[in-house]
Amino acid sequence: MKLEGKTVLITGGGQGIGQGIAYRLADQGANIVIDFVGNPQSANDTVAQIEKRGRKALAVEADISSVDQIHGMMKQAIDYCGAVDVLINNAGVEKHASIWEASEHDYDLVLNINLKGAYFASQAFVQHRMAVKKPGKIINVSSVHEDLPFPHFTSYCASKGGMKMMMRNLSIELAPYGITVNNIAPGAIETPINTALLNDPVKLKALLENIPLGRLGQVSDVAGVAAFLASSDADYITGATIVIDGGLTWNYSEQ
Ligand SMILES: NC(=O)c1ccc[n+]([C@@H]2O[C@H](COP(=O)([O-])OP(=O)(O)OC[C@H]3O[C@@H](n4cnc5c(N)ncnc54)[C@H](O)[C@@H]3O)[C@@H](O)[C@H]2O)c1
Repeated sequence: MKLEGKTVLITGGGQGIGQGIAYRLADQGANIVIDFVGNPQSANDTVAQIEKRGRKALAVEADISSVDQIHGMMKQAIDYCGAVDVLINNAGVEKHASIWEASEHDYDLVLNINLKGAYFASQAFVQHRMAVKKPGKIINVSSVHEDLPFPHFTSYCASKGGMKMMMRNLSIELAPYGITVNNIAPGAIETPINTALLNDPVKLKALLENIPLGRLGQVSDVAGVAAFLASSDADYITGATIVIDGGLTWNYSEQ
C-alpha cells in the first residue's frame, strides 16, 4: 500500500470530495485526520468508516478561516498521529452574487475559507515539517475556475485563481525543504456544493452538453488523483495543476 504509515490531514473532510479522498487514502494505508465545521454526525461517520479500514482517524472541529483554529487543528493532528505528512487543503465554499449586489460578508467568507484558510493551514503544516526536518506534500483542491471564468461567482474565481498563484509560489519557496505543492482542479463533480445545479434539469442539461465525456465527475474521479499526488510516485511533481473535468476546460469549437 502506497501510503502505509503516512498521516494525511484533510480540511473539510467530512463530506463530498474531502470525504472521498479520505476513504481512498485510507484504502492506500494512510491514517487520516479530517477537519469539519458544523456537521459532527457526518465527521464521526467518516471517522468510523476509516477505522473500519484499520487506520487511525480523528475528526477535529476547526473553522479554517480562523488562524488560531488552524494551528489548534494541526497540533491536535500531530498529538494524535505523531506527525502530519500530507496536507490536503480541500475546504471551500462558493456564493452566487453579481458584483453590483455582492456583500462584503459573502466576499470575506469565500476568500477567508478558500484562500486565507489554505494559506495558513499550509503555514502550520510547513512549520511542523521544518521542525521535524522532513519533507512533505501539500495538495490544494482548487477548481477549473482557477483559470476559467464563472460569471456571478467572482469571489470564488478570485479565491481559486489566488490558490493557483499561491501554489506556484510555494512550490518554489518550499522546494529546498523537500515540500511539494500541487493543485487538483475539478470540473463539475457530484457533491453537495452543486445541490442547486443538480436539482435544475435545464442547467444540468446545458452543463452536460459542455462536458465532452458526457457525465458529471464523481468524488472517486478526484480521489484517485489525490492518492497519486500524496504518494511517492509524485515525488518529482511540484508547481502543477492536474485538471479533472471530463474535457470541459478546453471544449471550445467553431462551427
Ligand atoms: N463539487 C465540485 O463540482 C467542485 C468543483 C471544483 C472545485 N471544488 C472544490 O472542492 C472542494 C470540496 O468541495 P465539495 O464539492 O466536496 O463540496 P462540499 O460542500 O461537499 O464540501 C465543502 C467542505 O468544506 C467544508 N467547509 C466549509 N467551510 C468551512 C470552514 N470555515 N472551515 C472548515 N471547513 C469548511 C464543509 O464543511 C465541507 O466539508 C471545495 O474547495 C470546492 O471549491 C468542487
